[in-house]
Amino acid sequence: EVKMSGQKEVTFIMVKPDGVQRGLVGEIIKRFESRGFQLVGCKMMSPSKEHLEKHYADLKSKSFFPGLIKYMSSGPVVAMAWQGKSVVKTGRAMLGATNPLESNPGTIRGDFCIDIGRNICHGSDSVESGKHEVELWFGEKTEDYSLCTESMIYE
Ligand code: TYD
Repeated sequence: EVKMSGQKEVTFIMVKPDGVQRGLVGEIIKRFESRGFQLVGCKMMSPSKEHLEKHYADLKSKSFFPGLIKYMSSGPVVAMAWQGKSVVKTGRAMLGATNPLESNPGTIRGDFCIDIGRNICHGSDSVESGKHEVELWFGEKTEDYSLCTESMIYE
């Protein structure tokens, strides 16, 4: 039980509308799978403005907030829950910096985009927000996933 606990960490990764439109869903999934993380939830959906406002509640006072909500509701997104050892921190590193111009080559943003307002993907920024966002987007307690995702490649 103890040795599994770190591997049950979950993060919320989303391919944003521009990522879906540009055909980058497979590329993003491939990188997380290749790294050794496990896909434990995945759905394509068109979130409501109300849902996006909840997801980005912390940014409500920012000047870019209205534009962010408009962009995020411009087309379908792919919402995913990924599980594994240190997946929150490592997932953020794989995505790259918020501003793609500051993202290192080799990261998803650093390889595929240049505009902070079209940065193709989202990843939770802490273990707590990972749990919170997976619950918000999948409507289930994170703990439930551990029942069906006992790792086959690590023990
Ligand atoms: P934020 O939560 O700060 O970054 P991250 O997505 O890396 O956790 O911001 C959420 C999104 O808002 C970000 O991915 C892109 C957009 N955004 C802007 O459009 N302009 C900005 O100046 C910032 C900081 C973010």
